[in-house]
Amino acid sequence: MSILKELELDIKKILKQAGYEVERLAMEESNRKDLGEYQLNDAMQLAKTYHDNPRNIAEKIKGELEKDSRFTNLNIAGPGFINFSLSNEYIVEILNRMNQDIFNNIDKKAPKKIVIDYGGANVAKALHVGHLRSANIGEALKRLALLLGYDALGDAHLGDYGRPLGLVLREIKARYPDLEYFDENYEGDFSEVELPITNADLEIIYPYASNKSKEDEQYLEEAREITLKIQKHEKGYYDLWKKVVDISKEDIKKTYADLNVSFEIWNGESDEMEFFDDLKKIYEDKNLLVESEGAMVVEVATDEDKAPMPPLLFIRSNGVASYETTDLAAILERKVNFNPDEMWYVVDGRQALHFEQTFRAARKAELISDEVVLEHVGFGTMNGKDGKPFKTRDGGVMSLKSLMDLVYQETFKKITNESLVGEEKESVAKTVAMAALKYADLLPYRGTDYIFEIEKFSDLEGKTGPYLLYSTIRMKSLLNKAIEQGIEFKEVKELKGETEKDLVLTLLYLPDLLDKSLEAKSLNEIADYIYKLTSIYNKFYSEHKVLVEENKDLQESWLVLTNIIYKINMLLLDVLGIKVPNKM
Ligand code: ARG
Repeated sequence: MSILKELELDIKKILKQAGYEVERLAMEESNRKDLGEYQLNDAMQLAKTYHDNPRNIAEKIKGELEKDSRFTNLNIAGPGFINFSLSNEYIVEILNRMNQDIFNNIDKKAPKKIVIDYGGANVAKALHVGHLRSANIGEALKRLALLLGYDALGDAHLGDYGRPLGLVLREIKARYPDLEYFDENYEGDFSEVELPITNADLEIIYPYASNKSKEDEQYLEEAREITLKIQKHEKGYYDLWKKVVDISKEDIKKTYADLNVSFEIWNGESDEMEFFDDLKKIYEDKNLLVESEGAMVVEVATDEDKAPMPPLLFIRSNGVASYETTDLAAILERKVNFNPDEMWYVVDGRQALHFEQTFRAARKAELISDEVVLEHVGFGTMNGKDGKPFKTRDGGVMSLKSLMDLVYQETFKKITNESLVGEEKESVAKTVAMAALKYADLLPYRGTDYIFEIEKFSDLEGKTGPYLLYSTIRMKSLLNKAIEQGIEFKEVKELKGETEKDLVLTLLYLPDLLDKSLEAKSLNEIADYIYKLTSIYNKFYSEHKVLVEENKDLQESWLVLTNIIYKINMLLLDVLGIKVPNKM
């Protein structure tokens, strides 16, 4: 159990000794540390229950608390607020417990299985900045859930099913009409057929085909037909589609790996659509499919709806399943293969209606039991300085790779450590760039839009990823120097000073903060917390010359404290999916 929770339980017992029972202790950290580090506000409520004056009650509780050596500076303020601080001996004990194992101070949850959908990259299309937030937030939520004891699985849910693939194949056909894939009479093995196309080609082919289809009705129609052929696994087209998917998938995997994002499940929409026949049967058996202008839809509106709730498009009039249907198939697939307690969708907030329709349709057909949680974890957009979604200079959608490269150029310029040259410098600059990008992306509450300023977020000063990396590396280097000089640090022996105390109080509320972050499914508080802890540590660092300190007990204690802060920083940066280089 976390240390603060344990302390709260003990205080509840002390209240009981004083003759009072409370359900939940009203204890909070005080913002007037001179009066006491914590404030206990229970006397006011107890006064009502026990029909007594709150100050009398506060006096009695204070009397009991005074018997416990963990508390000092006990005093009563106002109508009955009890202020107190933690004694130095207790602070020393707390730090030694944390030093044994930082996980001692983290609370685990009851086990639960969660499938988190945070990929959504589209095959044969370049990833764009919108996919970045899904990846960053989803990966971090998964890591947080795992840290707190859940069984969490990431699902890439690649967009490999709809019309874009039909367009890409239509354009490949225009460019390479003689490929065996388009020859109906070809009898050979398609896996041996060479495809003269790279991922870079695909990234050109898709936008070209998409533009062309807007002007050329015939071309679009053919792309639609090809889409249907792929979905029906028609020989040739289906084989070509598989090749294209493989080429693109390899590149997508590399981009996610650069972002330190990984998935346990590498499904695409097409894998989930293997469940389409079963899905359709469920909807048919329950009479939930309604014909509408040649299409099949599911009514999802209810009488309580205030805003319009259009029916869910199940099968388009041309026979192609819709985006909504791929998500319904995915729910069925996940239920069969993983049977999770919860499914989270970390997807742009602008898709809220899509998920509302999908979840309602899933409930209506009872694809999953009522207890299974389906949640759209939406997020705001990353904007450019003009406040509009991040664009390239000529106004196009910015690809994720270009954005990553821009940040890299910036961090490369800022690395001044002369011992770093050549490939090593490039590799460090890349890690720092990812920290800049990821930290900036996780810092605002996920629901809000924010402006990404490359220079600001790449800076070594301020609330930035690079600042956190730099400071964390400096902690490690202090510890290394101590080791080189043969200074041992095993135990906290004594501790004084405001800043040290501040560090401990900040460490104590970490478990509560982690719980709240998971509840809110947002990383902003954790991002803030690392900054706060690091800043207080840096203040401490500037106040003391640790390596030349003559009081050896104090020196050892400071080093242990440094080690704890270092480990917590490493742990939390890892939760955010941020890697720390050895030097920078
Ligand atoms: N591929 C979609 C897109 O790029 C995102 C998919 C989001 N996830 C989901 N389960 N619908 O917009």
